[in-house]
Amino acid sequence: MISKATIDKIFSTIRVEEIVGEYVQLKRAGSNFKGLSPFHDEKTPSFVVSPSKQIWKDFSSGKGGTAISFLMEIENFTYPEALRHAAKKYGIEIEEDKREYTEEEKQQQTDKELLYKIHEVANDFFQHQLFDTEEGRSIGYSYFKERGLRDEIIRKFQLGYSPEQKNAFTEFALDKGYSKDILEKSGLSIFPDHAQDGVDRFRERVIFPIHSFSGRVLGFGARILKNNVKTAKYLNSPETEIYHKSNVLYGLNQSKQSISKHNLCLLVEGYMDVIALHQAGIENVVSSSGTALTVEQIKLIKRLTENVTILFDGDSAGIKASFRSIDMLLSESMNIRILLFPDGDDPDSFSRKHPQEYVENFIKNEARDFIDFKAEILLKEAAEDPIKKAEAIRDIVKSVAFVTNALKQEIYLKEISNRFGLSEQSLFNELNVQKQIKNQQVSAVQRPAVANQVKLEKVADVFETVNPLLILEEKLVELMLKYGDRVLDRKDEEDQAFQITVIEEIIAHLEEDSYEVQSPLNQKIIEEIKSGISENQLRAGDFFKTLMDEDITGKVADALVEPYETSDWAKHQIFFSTEEEVLPKIVQDVIFRHKREYILKIVNDMKAELSETENNDETYRKIILLNQLRKQLDEKLYRIL
Ligand code: UTP
Ligand code: MN
Repeated sequence: MISKATIDKIFSTIRVEEIVGEYVQLKRAGSNFKGLSPFHDEKTPSFVVSPSKQIWKDFSSGKGGTAISFLMEIENFTYPEALRHAAKKYGIEIEEDKREYTEEEKQQQTDKELLYKIHEVANDFFQHQLFDTEEGRSIGYSYFKERGLRDEIIRKFQLGYSPEQKNAFTEFALDKGYSKDILEKSGLSIFPDHAQDGVDRFRERVIFPIHSFSGRVLGFGARILKNNVKTAKYLNSPETEIYHKSNVLYGLNQSKQSISKHNLCLLVEGYMDVIALHQAGIENVVSSSGTALTVEQIKLIKRLTENVTILFDGDSAGIKASFRSIDMLLSESMNIRILLFPDGDDPDSFSRKHPQEYVENFIKNEARDFIDFKAEILLKEAAEDPIKKAEAIRDIVKSVAFVTNALKQEIYLKEISNRFGLSEQSLFNELNVQKQIKNQQVSAVQRPAVANQVKLEKVADVFETVNPLLILEEKLVELMLKYGDRVLDRKDEEDQAFQITVIEEIIAHLEEDSYEVQSPLNQKIIEEIKSGISENQLRAGDFFKTLMDEDITGKVADALVEPYETSDWAKHQIFFSTEEEVLPKIVQDVIFRHKREYILKIVNDMKAELSETENNDETYRKIILLNQLRKQLDEKLYRIL
């Protein structure tokens, strides 16, 4: 970990205009610099850098932040990666946080390095076999050629070949001095019954190396060439210390630039789909490669875009299983669309049949939102059975309950209401039921964790245990960081107009309910903001980005580079011309929702503590009052837009 002193030094040394200047041609404009946005094609410059404030703002995409967040954005670096990059540029020596490593940790460290190394060696070996040996050329290379792959694509994905000889790679690696131990740990060799001679895991197969986000080889997928053999078509590396398949997406390294440029990620089923689309000029595509999509994988995509289009084979067996992926994507606040290919085509075959433009338009125009998609699949099953039809609609509303953005939720319900001719009110009621079912599941899992607050954030990471209170708390903090000093026009109970800043409104809400902050990091930030208020200072993002706390600055950078999306709403006939217009509504909405979740939590806690022996009248009275309050909030929240 980079020490705080180093981070401090980096921030005080680097100049945003110099770092940005390496990517964007900047011209002076008054006290600022201006240039063409690197994130958008544009003819008039709308990208501004302020040397005095040490920030940048891209008015065409709404993004903005510090020099470090610029590097994160343009190079797709993580926060520490961006810091290291900047330090190198300015010749700042990185001081790691001093901590003694245990013997075991040191051993793990060297094992890991060796594992990376041996995968590199193997990757070169397999490519060499494919291109430079007779066997490789006549079997592996010609297979790829038959499937229509061009050399440049074979090279780009570093495809390879593992020969028939049963220990070809094992022998090669042992000769190079790699130990049996590390060969076994890598999964590349198998030593059955501790026999003297190991054998290769991959034999007589074409090889697809699997890369990390930053391009290191972590493992391999290997496809059999003969169709008649009864073993699995693809053999993949096992889980190792460097390869955790739930944390990896195939193709991400080759596709990341295109994904951020198009602000869209296509999600396909297989290795060949990724490669074929690249060959067809469509490069914003990844695959979860045969495993069910995980939260970690979604987070990887989210570093680049919030928009995902899932591409399915027309006859894919996995379509219904995809409902779970849809809910997961929604609960990670992704925008999703789904596309089914016609009769037996998959992205691979489809992209080879049609020209690039046709495929692009097909994906753009034929992809549907999840409501249409689920409706079609479920209603087909329900046919004319009214009970099944009601169940289908309930199933769709269940997905809406996973949507984290309050406004989007309302928009989706409107859409369902239009589509099925149902009243919005009954859908809102159904949504509330679904949310409560979800919350009950959540609070049941959560109760033991409450005693230990630090664990809560971990819990929130797991899909099954989404904690809505924590999510809303995160939103409140994010709003304060991003828009804390914005002034809102409000009316009080007597209809008198008054003004209040976002920070003041949110802090007042938290204090009024003497709310217990759930996450320690948020607690830290809120404490800072409060002490700011007592010193007559509004501490929003600008204040925090210079605070030397890696966790906090990471969070601030995240908040600063992700403006609220307003464009999607236009197609639903809801127009906001600027972020400013949406802000007052969003702040109020999030506060109400947070209050509502908090009431639910208190009521649940109270119910859990009802005593069997003593008189509970007082508690019941409180619960009734709280429920009334919650109803009032519901009315405010779910009134028609
Ligand atoms: P597909 O059979 O659709 O793979 O399985 P594909 O990439 O289109 O393969 P081709 O076109 O026949 O060469 C989808 C994905 O499921 C995983 C692989 O990641 C594959 O890309 N899979 C499939 C396995 O891991 N093992 C298998 O036996 C089959
Ligand atoms: Mn295929």
